Amino acid sequence: MKSLAGLVIALFTTGVFGLVPSPAIKARCDETPTSTAAPTPTSICENATKFKYAGVNQAGAEFGNNVIPGSLGTHYIWPAPSSIDYFVKEGFNTFRVPFQQERLSPPETGIDGPFEPVYLAGLKQTVDYITNTKGAYAAIEPHNFMIYNGSFITDAEALAKFWTNVATEFKDNDKVIFDIMNEPHTQEAKIVFELNQASVNAIREAGATTQLILVEVITLIERHHLPLAWTGAWTWTGYSGNGLVFGAISDPYNNTAIEMHQYLDSDGSGTSPVCVSPTIGVERISDATRWLKENNLKGFLGELGAGSNPDCIAAVKGALCHLQQSDVWLGFAWWSAGPWWGDYFQSIEPPNGPALAELYPQAIKPFL
Ligand SMILES: *[C@@H]1O[C@H](CO)[C@@H](O)[C@H](O)[C@H]1NC(C)=O
Ligand SMILES: *[C@@H]1O[C@H](CO)[C@@H](O)[C@H](O)[C@H]1NC(C)=O
Ligand SMILES: *[C@@H]1O[C@H](CO)[C@@H](O)[C@H](O)[C@H]1NC(C)=O
Repeated sequence: MKSLAGLVIALFTTGVFGLVPSPAIKARCDETPTSTAAPTPTSICENATKFKYAGVNQAGAEFGNNVIPGSLGTHYIWPAPSSIDYFVKEGFNTFRVPFQQERLSPPETGIDGPFEPVYLAGLKQTVDYITNTKGAYAAIEPHNFMIYNGSFITDAEALAKFWTNVATEFKDNDKVIFDIMNEPHTQEAKIVFELNQASVNAIREAGATTQLILVEVITLIERHHLPLAWTGAWTWTGYSGNGLVFGAISDPYNNTAIEMHQYLDSDGSGTSPVCVSPTIGVERISDATRWLKENNLKGFLGELGAGSNPDCIAAVKGALCHLQQSDVWLGFAWWSAGPWWGDYFQSIEPPNGPALAELYPQAIKPFL
């Protein structure tokens, strides 16, 4: 969700919305010993079904979104091949690759205009490395929150043309996943649904018929005096409005899943390393799981994140076990890896992302 110079991270971290984190439940300790030997999946998750897509986000190309186009190496960066190598060796088979839409489709020519060739080459090189060199899936996504050049995207035809252009570039690569738009927010769910549906249609009409498509739902609601909700899953059947409209998504090739995100801190923003409780993962996702079953749809948890401490480790384990037992979640992607995270508490970027030593081997690795 967040990147350096992100849109609103500063607001959250300084607490201007007056959100008071609930005290974490410290009494219940993690039952799994913190040894370096990872338990086998069956020992921590009964009847687990392996994920089809076990993923990690590779952030960087969307960084510096306040400087458009910005310079490679100064404002943004593509994922490091060595990081992709590491995760493939660990058992991951999916990488979510955020990019900045204005860098690919410059404002001079618009969202539906031609691509900027150098940035396109960077994206293609990354996708080629992940898919052709490493044999993994690359979920490419404009990390734009349904905002382009400073305004909310409302023109379904223009966004559809953007996706025609993207699909035309990648239609012959079965290992590309089209992730329509990172974390739309504030607009009505119905409008976001229509923008997604037009994009699905455009991708298929462009001849990309084999690839998985991920449609993303409203993630941040800042209206009606209701609490902020950074993610889809925990507000799914509630006031986000997602549950009322997204059941109607249609794909002539039946290969579209609903993407949601889930953070486990008090406001669900992924900005605090304190988790609400050791069971908050399952609690926040269960409603969405029920909805997916009722609507005969599949889900993908495209961002999951929490701090590296006993409460969060238990909560992440619980969440991933729930997803694997559910039969409706195709997979997940941890937020995050990428070259520029520094000491961000959720980073598992090798060699020393802060969540790599404890959380990763205990709560993620067993589910790969
Ligand atoms: C695992 O599967 C067995 C046999 O179908 C079933 O009895 C049990 O309830 C399942 N456990 C869970 C946690 O789903
Ligand atoms: C982008 O934003 C600038 C500044 O608001 C505006 O002048 C320009 O027309 C916009 N371009 C497009 C394609 O919307
Ligand atoms: C998609 O699913 C529908 C309903 O189950 C079915 O009628 C249709 O043939 C499927 N299309 C493809 C391309 O598999």
